[in-house]
Amino acid sequence: MQAQERPLARLAFGSCADQDTPQPIWDAVLAYKPEVFLFAGDNVYGDVTSPDLMELRAAYAKARTLEGFSRLRRQVRHLAIWDDHDYGLNDGGAEFAHKQRAKELFLEFWNVAPDDPRRAREGLYMSTMLGPPGQRIQVILLDTRYFRSPLKPTDRRGAAGRERYLPDADPTKTMLGAAQWQWLAGQLREPAELRLIVSSIQVVVEGHGWERWGNLPLERQRLYDLIAETRAAGVVFLSGDRHLAALYRESTGVPYPLTEITSSGLTRYYATSREAGPNRLGAVYGLPNFGTIDVDWWEGTVGLAVRDEAGHVRRQATLRLDELKPR
Ligand SMILES: [Fe+2]
Repeated sequence: MQAQERPLARLAFGSCADQDTPQPIWDAVLAYKPEVFLFAGDNVYGDVTSPDLMELRAAYAKARTLEGFSRLRRQVRHLAIWDDHDYGLNDGGAEFAHKQRAKELFLEFWNVAPDDPRRAREGLYMSTMLGPPGQRIQVILLDTRYFRSPLKPTDRRGAAGRERYLPDADPTKTMLGAAQWQWLAGQLREPAELRLIVSSIQVVVEGHGWERWGNLPLERQRLYDLIAETRAAGVVFLSGDRHLAALYRESTGVPYPLTEITSSGLTRYYATSREAGPNRLGAVYGLPNFGTIDVDWWEGTVGLAVRDEAGHVRRQATLRLDELKPR
């Protein structure tokens, strides 16, 4: 009898790990025993001020010396995408002059293989299929930095709901860029029972004016429409960036209710954060955290949870796989 590929049941993810801050949370992440860990961006903080990218190099060098971070990288299969602070520019997009060199540093730090497709194309988006037919988890990591058009700055900096950016319906602006959009359409046509779409910045969230897909509402609708058009089942969004954690669900303009779990940060947190959450499920959580995805293939359920530094569940939602399908 042929050896069977085992279905995956335990994944974890996180974002916003400052290499200059103690990172005690890795003990809880390792104790959870994830089969795969997803680094959702701001995996180090290395905003650059000069073309030699000294700060980003130093950030990666320091991260290599961190015990928990390194143990996770040694012991647990993992995938990574960047956000602005490991891209090298706060809230940065396509305009960042040193993005090619920042990408090289990323490929080196994350030991990306010489024949990996990311080396032969622009940006760092990637996907992988885990598990046997009938119990497949597709992980899609989107690059929301390399191609992204400039965002529309706010008219009232810091005001609730318009903290930094305002929605911009300019049809020429892009979140993913043409090549990544085309690639994504192909990925969504691949058969899979569960698809974890990792976007460093939040996708479905409403109610704040920090970076989010809602800054480019036409691009966000394009994403929802693409899920409908490709009849991609099983989509759940994972995001980070915000220094808070929460669960969200969008039910309008989508082929089926789309749930998002945001986990941020592994170290950086914003304990007093308050914001409107018209499509948030419950309150935000404002202390260090990581996210987990537990799949029960026999019950047909996916448990999403935000966990604290002790590994305790602070926020959770359970989804039924048979409800994550376009009608
Ligand atoms: Fe960020």
